[in-house]
Amino acid sequence: MHFRSLKKILITPNAPFDKYLRGDKKAISQRAIKGYMLFKTKGCIACHNGINIGGNLYNKFGIYGDTESKELGRYAITHKEEDKYVFKVPSLRNVSLTAPYLHDGRASSLKEVVNLMFKYQLGRRIHGEELRDIVSFLQSLTGELPEIVKDINGSME
Ligand code: HEC
Repeated sequence: MHFRSLKKILITPNAPFDKYLRGDKKAISQRAIKGYMLFKTKGCIACHNGINIGGNLYNKFGIYGDTESKELGRYAITHKEEDKYVFKVPSLRNVSLTAPYLHDGRASSLKEVVNLMFKYQLGRRIHGEELRDIVSFLQSLTGELPEIVKDINGSME
């Protein structure tokens, strides 16, 4: 294992979406570009933001309606009423590889979880075409695994 470039490997985002942001307009599909626009205009970005598209704040799961969650989220630690059902907003990097979704794994596909986000976090409906666009965008966030992770996996085979 070579540690010399470890830092670079870990901090350089290399998903097709990053290439798109760096100016390669063909790095992601037209559908994914539309999905990225929707991600911004519909309000997903209010919570999933920053270089990791999430991962830097907490928010309530179920702003619109009761999600029937069995876990209480941050409340379990802080015992403050306002922390009930508050969870970490997850980073969406490599999200297409990490099913099942949400703290209790209730959604098994990206389509399903995006539908739930619209319902519970935005209080609106989404139609099929837009749903597919957003899913394409989420798929464009899958980066190559850093060499070091490949090394570790390789050595376990
Ligand atoms: C008000 C804040 C908020 C908004 C707006 C929001 N999310 Fe989320 N999102 C969350 C929180 C909090 C979770 C984690 C909930 C849990 O673990 O139960 C989450 C989870 C997710 C997950 C699951 C990730 C995983 O690894 O389990 C995806 C995918 C996702 N959001 C996509 C979206 C999309 C797409 C939109 C826009 C349609 C959106 N979110 C809008 C707060 C938000």
